[in-house]
Amino acid sequence: MFLYILGLVAFWFVFRWYRELARVPNKGQKYVYITGCDSGFGNLLARHLDKLGFRVIAACYTEKGEDELKKVSSERLNTVHLDVVSTDSVNKATAFINTLVGEKGLWAVVNNAGVSVPSGPCDWMTVDDYKSMLDVNLIGVIGVTLSVLPLIKKARGRVVNVASVFGRISAFGGPYCVSKYGVEAFNDSLRMNMSAFGVKVLCLEPGFFKTSVTDLHLLRKNVKTLWDKLPEEIKAQYGHDYPERDVEISLLMEAKPFFQQMLHWRRMLRRCWMGT
Ligand SMILES: *[C@@H]1O[C@H](CO)[C@@H](O)[C@H](O)[C@H]1NC(C)=O
Ligand SMILES: *[C@@H]1O[C@H](CO)[C@@H](O)[C@H](O)[C@H]1NC(C)=O
Repeated sequence: MFLYILGLVAFWFVFRWYRELARVPNKGQKYVYITGCDSGFGNLLARHLDKLGFRVIAACYTEKGEDELKKVSSERLNTVHLDVVSTDSVNKATAFINTLVGEKGLWAVVNNAGVSVPSGPCDWMTVDDYKSMLDVNLIGVIGVTLSVLPLIKKARGRVVNVASVFGRISAFGGPYCVSKYGVEAFNDSLRMNMSAFGVKVLCLEPGFFKTSVTDLHLLRKNVKTLWDKLPEEIKAQYGHDYPERDVEISLLMEAKPFFQQMLHWRRMLRRCWMGT
């Protein structure tokens, strides 16, 4: 019995190893559109896929982002200005992509652009704080996806949504978790509705990585800014030493080693079993 189970386990890992050997062919014919390439994941992914030989269309919010990316990448990579909040800007970027890809269509879109502040207790926020973040993190994702969906269908491509672990647990207040839950819902219905067209929909749920989204300095500054705007009554309710204690940030700090430990074990296991 024991040997039987061991055999099955061994088979599973050999199978996985074999499956992971597969590589994408004809990368030079495949267009990948990535949003939020000024920094963080978007920037890293654009450079990585460019090195692998894909045709990357990197959307940046700033001119500086575009210039710096061009400097470190091949001439295959195209940059485009994109403000995901503006329908006009989204459509302009899509028109540009349309002329680039032609009949090939778009092999992938990676919805990576997002913001993390303002974050804090819900009763510190105004409805405009909610609206402005939902506009970027949720409506932005939906808008970009819908505008390139015809091109994705043409290539029987894929949509990759960058959500967050906070699309599954609401670990702090404010609009961030709300927006990421929304991305998860969009991702799931889109996945079902697109499967008939051979379009895949995938969702990444990053935990703690060193990007501006988890920049503690930035988060702390955000708590301070929000605090300074609060009416005296709310400050009294929370206690005047609240920003110094910044409870929510220390919660994040406490969770960080846990996530890092998990990632560490996963890497170790992979190394042992997959030889990678
Ligand atoms: C679209 O997705 C929903 C699930 O979110 C599913 O119930 C519905 O049947 C789908 N419709 C089509 C036409 O695929
Ligand atoms: C989002 O899509 C991924 C990939 O299709 C799926 O595994 C995940 O469960 C989806 N998220 C939710 C909340 O349904």
